[in-house]
Amino acid sequence: MAKAGVQQKYDALALLGGPAVRPGGQKPYNTIGAREKQAVIAVLDSGELSGFVASAGPEFWGGTHVRALEAAFKQHFGVRHAIAVNSATSGLHCATLAMGLNPGDEVVVPPYTMSATATAVVMAGAVPVFADIEPQTFGLDPQSVRDNLTPYTKGIIAVNLFGHPARLNELRELADEHGLFLIEDNAQAPDAMCGDRKAGTVGDCGIFSLNRHKTMQSGEGGVLITNDDKIALKAALVRNHGEVVVAAMAVDDIVNTMGLNLRMTEMEAAVAGVQFDRLAELNEQRQVNAAYLTRRLAEVDGIAPPDVAAGCSHVYYLYAMKYDAEVTGIPRNIFCEALTAEGFYTRAGYVKPIYLEPMYQRKLAVGSGGFPFTASPRNASLSYRKGLCPVTERMQDHELMLTTVFQPPSQQHDLDLYVEAIHKVIAHREALLAYRTRGAAGV
Ligand SMILES: Cc1ncc(COP(=O)(O)O)c(C=O)c1O
Repeated sequence: MAKAGVQQKYDALALLGGPAVRPGGQKPYNTIGAREKQAVIAVLDSGELSGFVASAGPEFWGGTHVRALEAAFKQHFGVRHAIAVNSATSGLHCATLAMGLNPGDEVVVPPYTMSATATAVVMAGAVPVFADIEPQTFGLDPQSVRDNLTPYTKGIIAVNLFGHPARLNELRELADEHGLFLIEDNAQAPDAMCGDRKAGTVGDCGIFSLNRHKTMQSGEGGVLITNDDKIALKAALVRNHGEVVVAAMAVDDIVNTMGLNLRMTEMEAAVAGVQFDRLAELNEQRQVNAAYLTRRLAEVDGIAPPDVAAGCSHVYYLYAMKYDAEVTGIPRNIFCEALTAEGFYTRAGYVKPIYLEPMYQRKLAVGSGGFPFTASPRNASLSYRKGLCPVTERMQDHELMLTTVFQPPSQQHDLDLYVEAIHKVIAHREALLAYRTRGAAGV
């Protein structure tokens, strides 16, 4: 709709008391259907809500649905092992603990990710070194990783952010060149493709999330996949109190294993099994909507749609736009506030770069003595200063804008309304800027 038309149709922004483009906001995200319900009821009827026991024997490996989920992951990703756990955070812990890190070892991670990516390193007694991302895929920039390698570097954790693979092939080559492990945090990109490889299969292991916000979900849950027998065994030991099992399982060459309880319930596994079976359909809904939104956004100056790198596919966990305030004439924060008031969740930036969180700023994670940072031979020069990763900071402070408006149950009509709301906000720029000035002056 042309600018004048939008101005005529809506005389005031919702933020300023006018009617919203979509009163009532977004419908809640919900992909749970009859099959998921039946799967849970079948588990409840069976009375076996978990199949795990922390002792050597078949029950060490979990119940029927956990094993069926693992078998499905193995087959789909063509890997030797899949270990289901109660979250991707747990999967990342299994992964870092399986890598044989020593206190003070370094692992290169991106700062633009959910905090668990880096915390998994700290929990293993090692220290995260933050390399910058590159602005196209929002994944680790291989050159920045290279610049951050030291004699203490043991591995890299790549994150496939927002549904798009990082530069996995280059990161794999870099890891191999330097004898490092590569863990893929693939919580957000199930079935995204990087060339002919599925995201999650390029690393020594890949971790998936099944939390309530994800494309496939069971409320909480995660899966680690790997071709490496030793990583798989260690992960299974970490998942289920491994210290009391290693002797009886005759794997007592792995005594340095403290297990936790990271076990997945049968109900979670049953729901996850159905959702995993529906993954192609769930991804397609997002891809169709995202492609439509990308086409429609071509008519808006100052908002660029997500890139898809050559040879890759995007599965759109989130729709990540780049915003140019110089072009729209509206600061990003106020633009997002106005759009959200119109009924369309839109967020300025993603998360604070992780190194700016107090745990890194003050180098205090375990107790008050500074472990694990103090275990690093170069603790004094290990920097978490503001400005460390300029691309990440630019994305967070200025350019990135995220939305969930394309997620099911949204349809084309909702996306048309979204674009209409964008035009509306831009058409009312003067009123919005006046409101902002009044707000800043406390009027
Ligand atoms: C990139 C990334 N890594 C890890 C996690 C942790 O996942 P979970 O909530 O399953 O522990 C998330 C969850 O949002 C994530 O987005």
